[in-house]
Amino acid sequence: MKVVVFGAAGRMGCEVVRLVAQAQDMSLVGAVDHAGCSALGKDAGLVAGTDDLGVAISPDLGSALLGADLLVDFSIASAFDGMLRTAMRAKVAVVSGTTRLNETSQTLIDRAATTIPVLWSPNMSVGVQVLAGLVEQAVQQLGEEYDIEVVEAHHNRKVDAPSGTATFLVEAAQRARAGLRPVFGREGQPGARGVDEIGVHALRGGGVIGDHAVHLIGEAERIEIVHRAVDRGLFARGAVRAARFLASRPAGRYSLADVVATSVTS
Ligand SMILES: NC(=O)c1ccc[n+]([C@@H]2O[C@H](COP(=O)([O-])OP(=O)(O)OC[C@H]3O[C@@H](n4cnc5c(N)ncnc54)[C@H](OP(=O)(O)O)[C@@H]3O)[C@@H](O)[C@H]2O)c1
Repeated sequence: MKVVVFGAAGRMGCEVVRLVAQAQDMSLVGAVDHAGCSALGKDAGLVAGTDDLGVAISPDLGSALLGADLLVDFSIASAFDGMLRTAMRAKVAVVSGTTRLNETSQTLIDRAATTIPVLWSPNMSVGVQVLAGLVEQAVQQLGEEYDIEVVEAHHNRKVDAPSGTATFLVEAAQRARAGLRPVFGREGQPGARGVDEIGVHALRGGGVIGDHAVHLIGEAERIEIVHRAVDRGLFARGAVRAARFLASRPAGRYSLADVVATSVTS
């Protein structure tokens, strides 16, 4: 599989470049970043801290996509639409983990999916996908006698709360129990806990990559389902797994849940 990485000089881009360089079934044929990027012209492998791969980082996505099979994007929301339009013109499949996409970008994904395979996921962790499935199953089976609280922890540089993953887990619980409504933190006199509440709490500190815990609390027992990210390379591994999944798919919009489901049944 001939892979191009967009956002190649970034933290996630470098993780993907390293994985692609190691993969037997993949080769890096293009590495792209923006025109003002300080790594332009440098070898993508060397920038990523691995071997010289003979692929210089370029600002020209259109040229990089000539002859490519798949584009992996971890860049910035403002570059997303242009990236996707270029991939559509080149008829190259796209795996994207870029976050904070707006409605316009989401609509564009739907449009692109009529002509190319596209998989966008704001969380490329296969483990988090499995966690969401476990949460949905547990909430459905435990019923209203169990209160649900979600606690997330991230590094002290994170500027938003709750995390996208915490929201994703709330949505998993809501699929299992209609009417649940998130309550973000508690202070003062919030009153007794309502049966329709799902508490969401954010811890911030140090260098935590991302911990998520879902507490299911009954009168006489508690279940805690926990996921801890210990290395951000896990997101790149999920993206590479998604790339392998997408390689043999027709045009369409796919999710990481599709990747996980296929892995289980195949
Ligand atoms: N889905 C997931 O599981 C997951 C996991 C981690 C991160 N992410 C997301 O992935 C994205 C990248 O994260 P990161 O941590 O790798 O960030 P990063 O280190 O800032 O990397 C982003 C790269 O994109 C470059 N870039 C900026 N503007 C661009 C443009 N117009 N066109 C092309 N490239 C451009 C940046 O260049 P400069 O540094 O010069 O600006 C940088 O090289 C973010 O949206 C982040 O939230 C998703």
